Amino acid sequence: MFYLGFNVNFMSLFLFKIKCVCVVRSVMMDPSPRVLVTGATGLLGRAMCKEFEGSDWTIIGTGNSRAKPRLLSCDLTDEAAVRRLLSDSKPHVIVHCAAERRPDVVERHPEAAANLNVHATALLASLAAASGALFLYISTDYVFDGRNPPYGEDDAPNPLNVYGKSKLQGEREALRHCPGALILRVPVLYGEVTSVTESAVTCLWLNVESEEISALDHTQQKFPTDTRQVAAVCRRLCERARQDSSVRGVFHFSGNEQMTKYQMGVAMAQAFDLPSNHLIPLTEQPAAASAHRPINSQLNCSRLQLLNLGIEPTTFSSSIVECLWPFTADRRWRQTVFH
Ligand SMILES: NC(=O)c1ccc[n+]([C@@H]2O[C@H](COP(=O)([O-])OP(=O)(O)OC[C@H]3O[C@@H](n4cnc5c(N)ncnc54)[C@H](OP(=O)(O)O)[C@@H]3O)[C@@H](O)[C@H]2O)c1
Repeated sequence: MFYLGFNVNFMSLFLFKIKCVCVVRSVMMDPSPRVLVTGATGLLGRAMCKEFEGSDWTIIGTGNSRAKPRLLSCDLTDEAAVRRLLSDSKPHVIVHCAAERRPDVVERHPEAAANLNVHATALLASLAAASGALFLYISTDYVFDGRNPPYGEDDAPNPLNVYGKSKLQGEREALRHCPGALILRVPVLYGEVTSVTESAVTCLWLNVESEEISALDHTQQKFPTDTRQVAAVCRRLCERARQDSSVRGVFHFSGNEQMTKYQMGVAMAQAFDLPSNHLIPLTEQPAAASAHRPINSQLNCSRLQLLNLGIEPTTFSSSIVECLWPFTADRRWRQTVFH
């Protein structure tokens, strides 16, 4: 494993160039395949780096505002910086996780979101195609309207909100500029978080833990999916696609437990032996102040299943304990998970 370790924001261009030369020289001397993971500071990107790290890959991880040592800071909306990144690092595979994925933020700032979710994707895809790198774009179940689940890979998308539209446009740009691209659509994600509010799933912990009466949505059907599983799918999919050029196009991956937010909250409480009777199921659709969400955008994952990538399903109750134990005051859980 090898991360490229420099930060464009805090170095002069001169130092940047020198470092690039050193880095590229050492990267070129490393015989293992190179993967560029965008969004490596994010929820999925962190799991992605860990997954590739555990295999014979050299990782080039990029972030933006949160890039730390061992990660590269690169604003993907800066075309010159992206071109430099690609020409210096020469990846064999690009896993493009970076996105603005908060639907309410995208609704308020559609142009900024389009710059990242659409235009940066188009640029990365075209540079991948020009260099012969495999391009994997992470997309979302929000490309569907949720009225007629489950959705196969070829079903007609019809996003309800600006975020879903931007991700669908990103998919189309990826395939237009790089016809051999892979697209992986996934539903709501949870995983190792830096704060519980980082994921729409783990943030429910605040309701569970507070033991104050709280109403949780019980209308929208979700399929919470562990980022570690998504990362494992991505690595194996990339490895398979590098061997078999027929493995291309759109794939779906999803956890297989259907739950509303209310049911996730109850499952979390049960997993930690906590009371759940303060959680109230909200059976009316949330007010339309925020972006519209599909009622049930369940993904049919049969195309991916046919590849037999050997990903074993995990249960929500066990995975969520592994993600949330650092946030519980009860030390029993720390011991349980570690051993
Ligand atoms: N989270 C979910 O529930 C979910 C569900 C379905 C699909 N997805 C998709 O999964 C992918 C990963 O999502 P995530 O949850 O990991 O997102 P996230 O936690 O919000 O991370 C977003 C990443 O994008 C980076 N980024 C933001 N603006 C950037 C810019 N201008 N230039 C370069 N990098 C930039 C961030 O870097 P800094 O933080 O360093 O600024 C961060 O690493 C996305 O494509 C998303 O659409 C997510």
